[in-house]
Order: sequence, then C-alpha cells, then structure tokens
Amino acid sequence: MLKSRFTLALMLLAVATASVYFLLPKAASLPQPTARPIVALVPMGTTDEYWKAVHAGGIKAAKELNVELIWQGPIRRDDRSSQLDVVDSMVIRGVSGIVLAPIDNMALRSPVNDAYLSHIPVIVIDSDLASDKQESFIRTDNEAAGFLAGEHLASLLGYKGRVAILRGVEGNSSTDHREVGFIKAIRQHKDMQIVSDSQHGGGTTESAYKASENLIAPFKNADKLNLDGIFCPNESTTFGMLRALQDGGLAGKIKFVGFDFSPKLLAALRTGEISALVAQDPVTMGYLGVKAVVDKLQGKELTRVVDVKATIVTQKNIDEPAVKGIIEPDLSILETKR
Ligand code: BDR
Repeated sequence: MLKSRFTLALMLLAVATASVYFLLPKAASLPQPTARPIVALVPMGTTDEYWKAVHAGGIKAAKELNVELIWQGPIRRDDRSSQLDVVDSMVIRGVSGIVLAPIDNMALRSPVNDAYLSHIPVIVIDSDLASDKQESFIRTDNEAAGFLAGEHLASLLGYKGRVAILRGVEGNSSTDHREVGFIKAIRQHKDMQIVSDSQHGGGTTESAYKASENLIAPFKNADKLNLDGIFCPNESTTFGMLRALQDGGLAGKIKFVGFDFSPKLLAALRTGEISALVAQDPVTMGYLGVKAVVDKLQGKELTRVVDVKATIVTQKNIDEPAVKGIIEPDLSILETKR
C-alpha cells in the first residue's frame, strides 16, 4: 500500500514538473535586458535640500543617458563611516561608475583607491578629495565663493565692524575652503575684525543650532548683539544660526550671509532675517557627475576640474528669472519611479 502511494506521488510530481517546464517561456525566448550601466550617486548626506537637488540632477542625466542610478548616502553629512560603507559596497557590487561627494577629504581616499584598482571610474563632486584617483572634480569654486560672501558682508557693513563665522564640519573640504575665502576677504579691510572663528556647526541643523547659541552668547547684551555680521558656510549651519537668532530675538538685527538655499532660508531672505545667500547649482552638479561617468565609460577625455557657478542671492535679485532658475529647482523628477 505504502509503495503504491509513493509511486503515485512520484508520478504526480513528474507530471507537475513537466507541465511547469512546458508552460513557462524558455529563458532563451525572453527578451534579454540590455545591460545598462549602473551609476552610484553617493552624497554626503540626504536630509539637506541641497542633496535632493543633486539627486534630481543625477536622475535627469540617468534618464537622458539610459543608465541605472543608485542613490545612497548617509543621513547625516558628518557620518564618515556610513559613507565609507556605501562606497565599499558599490565597489563590491561592481557598479559601472561612482559619483561621490566625500564627507572627508582624507577618509574617503581608501574606498576610492579600491574603486580605481577595480577599474570603476570615480567622479568627485561638491567637495574635494586628497587623491589623484578620481577622474574629474565637479564643484563650486568654494574658496572664491567664500571670498564673494566675505566681500558682500563687508559691503553691507560699510567695510567696518566685528564679524563672526560659524564653521562647518572639520575635514570637509567644501566648507573649509569657503571659510578660507571668507576670512581672506574680511582681512582685506583694516576696519573689520573677525571676533569669532572657532565654533564648528557640525553636520546637522541641530548641532549647528547649539554651536550658534555658544557663538552668540558672549556677544549678547539683552536684546542686542555686540556683533555686526555673521557668515555660515552651508545649508545646515545657515539654518541652525537662523533658528538661534530667531529664538534669541536677534534675527534681522545683524547682517547675516549664509550659503545654499531652501524654502525656509529663502523665506528668511525675503523678511530680511538673512541678508544674502550664496546659491550653488546642485542640480547641474548632480547632472554633470552622472554624465561624466558615462563619458568616461565611452572613452571620452574628462576635464580634471569643472566649475559650477555660485550666485549671491539678495532681496534685489531673488525674483529675477536667472536666479529663480537656480533657487527654485524642479524636483518633481524625484517623484517619478526610476
Ligand atoms: C552642503 O554641504 C556642502 O558640501 C555642499 O556644497 C552644501 O553647501 C550641503 O549639505
């Protein structure tokens, strides 16, 4: 009895297997998907509006150039170990190319070197890397942009007064260079003094808020600030400082030049709580990063350093079409499925 049931079960299994085999289309008859290049776009962080715009630019290029885009990066823009892990994983995965905004100009050299040894082209965007293994560096000229910010703040103050700078993340090349440029500009004017330049805002708005309170405290006298001007070198330090000034009843009572843009920063520019913003072009940076990988894969020569422009945005030009095109990027592409 047991034998005949076993035999029956075997027969049923054979019939089922055969029918599945004949029913399923043969792998050979399926259209073979064309192997599109896979490009990894690895930002410093993913919360700032700036990186969302970089992502939108990358998607635009990926669609136009028919490549598969992987967007992966740390949440916080000071989380070195997470970014290292992401780049390592992309190298192991064997992607076709990597576009990287390095959180730290030294720490990210090792995985980039691994990519180089694996013949995976790396394009650095936004913030420099102390390496010669990247194929190209697409960036804002950060020292020049910092100098522009310094000159603008100086002009707002009539080239005299006491100014402070809230620095970004230590080791982060983009903000480091802006800070150098800003200080160079201020030091050109003999009646101007930098009275605070040692506070670092870190990688988040929250850490920047706390650092801003620490920076402001020694200069605060009731509802006045014994300070004439402030500079912040990126989106999170600018927003953290804005919130600290607002909470301290000091917003609008001091000349304040920030960096980057977001709806909240632009709203503060319109009210006068922020005097000016240095706007980059993150959509173009993301776009050119992905395009550079494809160009490299096609054997094209790449330019070692590509400048993307920076624009001083003020209440005077904020509604000009050319400026609106930069500070109101179309991010709707982020909603479409890639
Ligand atoms: C900010 O960090 C910088 O590296 C970018 O240029 C931008 O200013 C975004 O987090």
